[in-house]
Amino acid sequence: MNVSRVQENLRTEKLGRKIIFSRRIGSTNDLAKKLATYGAVEGTVVVADTQDAGRGRLNRNWVSPKGGLWFSLILRPKCHPTEATRLVFVACLAVAETLSKRYGLKVETRWPNDVVVNGRKICGILAEMNTIGEAVNHVIVGVGINANFDAAKAFPESLRTPATSLKSELGNSIRLGELLGLLLERLEIKYHLFVSGDSRRIIDEWKAYAAFLGRKINVACENGNLRGVALDVDYDGAFILKLEDGIVKRILVGDVTVQED
Ligand code: BTN
Repeated sequence: MNVSRVQENLRTEKLGRKIIFSRRIGSTNDLAKKLATYGAVEGTVVVADTQDAGRGRLNRNWVSPKGGLWFSLILRPKCHPTEATRLVFVACLAVAETLSKRYGLKVETRWPNDVVVNGRKICGILAEMNTIGEAVNHVIVGVGINANFDAAKAFPESLRTPATSLKSELGNSIRLGELLGLLLERLEIKYHLFVSGDSRRIIDEWKAYAAFLGRKINVACENGNLRGVALDVDYDGAFILKLEDGIVKRILVGDVTVQED
């Protein structure tokens, strides 16, 4: 990726003003975390061609071959840690809007942090927070987009969540630098909304892409595997599930899959 070209064309105030590029890295989140600890400014981005130790949610591995867009962004919001958990929705919404507006894809958001095309995951987000007492020190927002590779070849059939890529959906490769620039611009717009206290709007806009709402779903969570109807995602980002026996549950951590009709 030509990082200087990305920066020349970038219309942001803060995000991506400093970009650190590596051809091969363990995990962009890990380097970003280290840089943030040493005082890197808000908006610093770490991007890599490949990751040898890419990480997903819940300590899962994240397969990161060449051709994907793997990057992490350092944010330093002045808010309470509970509010900062909504940043995953900020990032998810920015990705969903960018993929839909730039490439005309019919994207969906899937709680809590996936972007999905045709029922298959195309992007995952890993937000990791560091706090000092009741204040947020930094949040690393890691974004992984399966872009210029054939998903069927890159991912084993046994993958827990079926995956796709931009190339598999569009039939052609895209310019990774352009995608990174567009994403940073949209992330900055959504982050401004969040910082100015409008995170309800973020959740509402995110819900406009959440096609699983109202459908029969399974949620794998700490209470086991729950089945029911996806009622809502509330303004704290919690998932509201109506179980088959009518009981309504509020879930904070889990994985959603839609039941076949
Ligand atoms: C998930 O869906 O489980 C989250 C996946 C997040 C992957 C990205 S790729 C860039 C950044 N670096 C990492 O090690 N993980 C995130």
